[in-house]
Amino acid sequence: MSSTAPTVTREQAVALDAGSPLRGRRELFELPAGVVYLDGNSLGALPRSVAPRLREVVDREWGAGLISSWNTADWVGLSRRVGARIAPLVGARDCDVHVGDSTSVTLFKTFVAAARLRPGRRVIVLEPTTFPTDAYVAAGVSRAFDLELRWCDPADPAASLGDDVAVLALTHVDFRSGAMFDLPGLTRAAHDAGALAHWDLCHSTGAVPVELMAADADVAVGCTYKYLNGGPGSPAFAWVHPRHQPGWDQPVTGWFGHADPFGMAPTYAPVDGVARMASGTPPVLALSALDAALDVFDGVGIDVLREASLSLTDLFIDLVDARLGSVFEVITPRARSLRGSQVSLRHGSAYGVVQALVARGVVGDFRTPDVARFGFAPLYVTHADVYDAVEQLVAVVEGEEHLRAAYAVRHAVT
Ligand SMILES: Cc1ncc(COP(=O)(O)O)c(C=O)c1O
Repeated sequence: MSSTAPTVTREQAVALDAGSPLRGRRELFELPAGVVYLDGNSLGALPRSVAPRLREVVDREWGAGLISSWNTADWVGLSRRVGARIAPLVGARDCDVHVGDSTSVTLFKTFVAAARLRPGRRVIVLEPTTFPTDAYVAAGVSRAFDLELRWCDPADPAASLGDDVAVLALTHVDFRSGAMFDLPGLTRAAHDAGALAHWDLCHSTGAVPVELMAADADVAVGCTYKYLNGGPGSPAFAWVHPRHQPGWDQPVTGWFGHADPFGMAPTYAPVDGVARMASGTPPVLALSALDAALDVFDGVGIDVLREASLSLTDLFIDLVDARLGSVFEVITPRARSLRGSQVSLRHGSAYGVVQALVARGVVGDFRTPDVARFGFAPLYVTHADVYDAVEQLVAVVEGEEHLRAAYAVRHAVT
């Protein structure tokens, strides 16, 4: 392979960082020296605010306060408080976001509740390229509630809408390619067909602007361990448009979604608002970690994050094109309006490429069958990181390091 010269110098990349409004934010994170971390779209880096907060919650609230901390530390209100901090990142009112279960469990509840708002319609439309858990959960929901799944063409999801469709359930940014759907346009198309628009925001929240209220969307779900840096397995959020909340009937009707949990009534009566998404006791430690992690977003607008993210992905695409254009196919859309915050490269030995890069300190991930995926979390990834990552990629390819036998051994998590 012959690589050509980079289109920018490292000095120019450093100058871009020096002029960035996010300059200095990286210091809010614990990042190991010598690592270029391009996997914040899988697991965000650790904000420095998390460990002290968790120590305090463990020692003072749990250790010393014991059960009284449900009241004195307002553990009961933690989900609502954390939801209110996520709300501005997705264009929602503070009171309309609930945080509590995993994304998969949340999807089960929202798919069922959304479908129940369109009685007489039996179809949930999904794109076949959606994240597998969305499809698996939708299949489980359809079996349990006698609904039908319909796969749409990701190039034209609206073509699958009809008067039998209850819910159009799409993933805003595709986990494999990084392609982004037109959320307002497809929401309108769903409504024109009488269906609800349900959005999975896992790969958007914290890096890509989403205006749920302005788009008049119906339901959204997103994880918090990627660009929100909530930590491994941190709880997901759900947003329900206020017009749907009075009739919102989610299927896991546990006591924490009851209007009066400690009334211990024998029958269920849901609390008002999105809080009825709750089922059981909230994960206080995980919510506390997420609460602390969200400090890194204080004072930063989502538009600033988006501009920084686009600048990083533009640079990565330009450098890969210039230096390795004959080796990798960039499968992420080049048009800014169609791209999330990741860039995916297709290569026959993509797994080996990712492993060889990790050995050189550049962390991305692999998605089967042939995609090397790189996420650009704008709060802590710099233009200099992008420059260095592409230099390492060139070295891997030139040295044919990706073909080494050791890098063919598949780990459980890729
Ligand atoms: C789009 C999307 N939905 C859902 C999930 C995962 O769901 P859970 O948080 O339940 O593991 C992911 C994980 O990467 C994802 O990318």
